[in-house]
Amino acid sequence: MEPKERHQDRQQKQDRPLQDIFTDVPPKYDLINRLFTFRMDEHWRKRAVKECLKGQPAKILDLCTGTGDLALRMARKADWGCQITGVDFSDTMLEVAREKQKLWPDKQVDFVFGDVADLPFETAFFDTAGISFAFRNLTFENPDTPEFLSEILRVIKPGGKFVIVESSQPGSGIYRKFFHAYMKHVVRRMGSWISGNREAYQYFYYSVSHFYTAAELKKLLLDAGFSSVSHIPLAGGAAAIHTAIK
Ligand SMILES: C[S@@+](CC[C@H](N)C(=O)[O-])C[C@H]1O[C@@H](n2cnc3c(N)ncnc32)[C@H](O)[C@@H]1O
Repeated sequence: MEPKERHQDRQQKQDRPLQDIFTDVPPKYDLINRLFTFRMDEHWRKRAVKECLKGQPAKILDLCTGTGDLALRMARKADWGCQITGVDFSDTMLEVAREKQKLWPDKQVDFVFGDVADLPFETAFFDTAGISFAFRNLTFENPDTPEFLSEILRVIKPGGKFVIVESSQPGSGIYRKFFHAYMKHVVRRMGSWISGNREAYQYFYYSVSHFYTAAELKKLLLDAGFSSVSHIPLAGGAAAIHTAIK
């Protein structure tokens, strides 16, 4: 069975509500991200690219690539002829990614359809896997988390790296309260209004506000079988880059 058919088969058997959300939002997805993070999302991806490209990996995977920002940024930065693949289960996101790629025709990224629960790649194929702003979707109150993590672990080579850039929880109580209030009163309302998709931004606000601390995320990765996990806080802990070794 092709990855897409396998995925459709899975969908018939289980609910994948997030897929509808990410099929609906795309036209204004990038704009909204830039707006509500004051363009800091780009800076955070840049930092994640730096982590992903350390050691000049030959084969790199961008999980949940969405509109391809992380993968394309890596392709622009890496000058040693590596192979970069972006995978996502939203056709509309992948369409935007392929359109963007036309801006850099000499930078090759393979954008492929696939579900992280059943990645269409050989075992131990990638030196590095990165994921930007989607690890929360895979692990926040998601019953398929163990499946996602074991698939990610499977496709990374022993000694290979998994880099996550994601929202996190500020250490300071006052800042944390402010951050959650900003998510609730500004991002949730304005995001719903601009995108016309209330459900997506209700989910966004709720999952960001209740997501793991860096210590909890480290435990999740160690329990899943990664051998060492470190993190770099960003914007006072509102986001973080986590690096795990297989
Ligand atoms: C918030 S977007 C992040 C996109 C991109 N990485 C970025 O930095 O902007 C989350 C993406 O994860 C994808 N996604 C969520 N669950 C997935 C799964 N199980 N398999 C593949 N893609 C998934 C969605 O389709 C969406 O494109």
